[in-house]
Amino acid sequence: MTEPRRVVLGVGGGIAAYKVCELLRLLTESGHDVQPVPTSSALHFVGTATWEALSGHSVATDVWTDVPDVPHVALGRTADLIAVAPATADLLAKAAQGRADDLLTATLLTARCPVLYAPAMHTEMWEHPATRDNVGTLRRRGGIVMDPAVGRLTGTDSGPGRMPDPSQIADLALLLLARPDALPRDMSGVRVLISAGGTREPLDPVRFLGNRSSGRQGWALAQVAAARGATVAVVAASVELPDPSGVQVTRVGTAAQLHEAMLAAASDADVVVMAAAVADFRPRDTQQHKIKKDGREPNPVVLVRNPDILTELVRDRRTGQVIVGFAAETGDADGDVMTHGRDKLARKGADLLVVNAVGAGKAFEVGTNEAVILSADGTEVDVAHGLKTQLAAAVWDVVSARLAQPAR
Ligand code: CTP
Repeated sequence: MTEPRRVVLGVGGGIAAYKVCELLRLLTESGHDVQPVPTSSALHFVGTATWEALSGHSVATDVWTDVPDVPHVALGRTADLIAVAPATADLLAKAAQGRADDLLTATLLTARCPVLYAPAMHTEMWEHPATRDNVGTLRRRGGIVMDPAVGRLTGTDSGPGRMPDPSQIADLALLLLARPDALPRDMSGVRVLISAGGTREPLDPVRFLGNRSSGRQGWALAQVAAARGATVAVVAASVELPDPSGVQVTRVGTAAQLHEAMLAAASDADVVVMAAAVADFRPRDTQQHKIKKDGREPNPVVLVRNPDILTELVRDRRTGQVIVGFAAETGDADGDVMTHGRDKLARKGADLLVVNAVGAGKAFEVGTNEAVILSADGTEVDVAHGLKTQLAAAVWDVVSARLAQPAR
């Protein structure tokens, strides 16, 4: 865990305010000191007592409480991060104009820390040219404005405008606390394709051969790339996490389905990342009915090879496309983790290979990771143990630098 930091949690007047209680919880449970600053409209949805009880701080909406402390200046100067959720159309407009008519908007002007906005509003409001301009202005000034999720809105309608899932807002907030410069908007116009999760190869309708990948590293890559401005598509094998907001997700099960989906989408991508754990083998026969024991000895399962997707992506790559592989290694009698990693990078022909050591509670099903990013040109970037979003940001730093080089 990173050392405790001070977060100002600005809460706008939208129904999604009720979900921000969960965000507040996630941030305090990560050890941070969170000061909620609701707008007076937000209090129509969730009252003062809830914010005070969950944060352990008294809350105010205007600058006329505790006047001698000059609260808007004190809050702005001491904050390590301001997260605004839900960021309503009105709040985005006020922030873009530099208005300062309540405690939250005044604090936004005094703060010099990163500001993360999680929008929530009706689709028409999100798509209105006024809101588009305001979002553009805030992003140009360095504000991190997440794309809203697509889904059910306040009434029976659905579309873009739903607040991103609180866990995903927390993921980016925790990343910014660990590394304030992790989300520059340097990937605008870059099309990214990422595979995530672990494939499942069915034996019968209820059983499969699978692996322990949760998809969290692939999700972190997608969230961070989207926040840095990229257009992101993910092919997800057996991932049980909510879709990252602003990311197009295709759900698959088997390696064959992942293979088909990745090869179909790769030609439109500037960067392809194979973060999925792909089964190298699948059962030759999938039974149509549940396999019964029937008092018999079990039949051996005959396996056949799956295609190596990364190798095929490299074979079919377009000029200038950057291809990134992942390798989870344990080291064995033939060599340590890095020896296997360097061999694999050469064998697969990718531009980059992110090598991490697995086993004994490392990497799988946890929120943290550590790795070395190997480049085909021999350079190595060590990424210390940290959040999966931190590893994702380090990968995008290396990719961004490659894309900025003159055509290879
Ligand atoms: N990969 C792939 N298709 C496969 C297997 C792996 O595209 N059938 C990709 C993974 O997504 C990863 C990289 O190849 O980006 C390395 O995966 P890994 O399982 O470590 O490599 P393998 O080639 O399976 O090598 P090993 O013999 O170590 O299992």
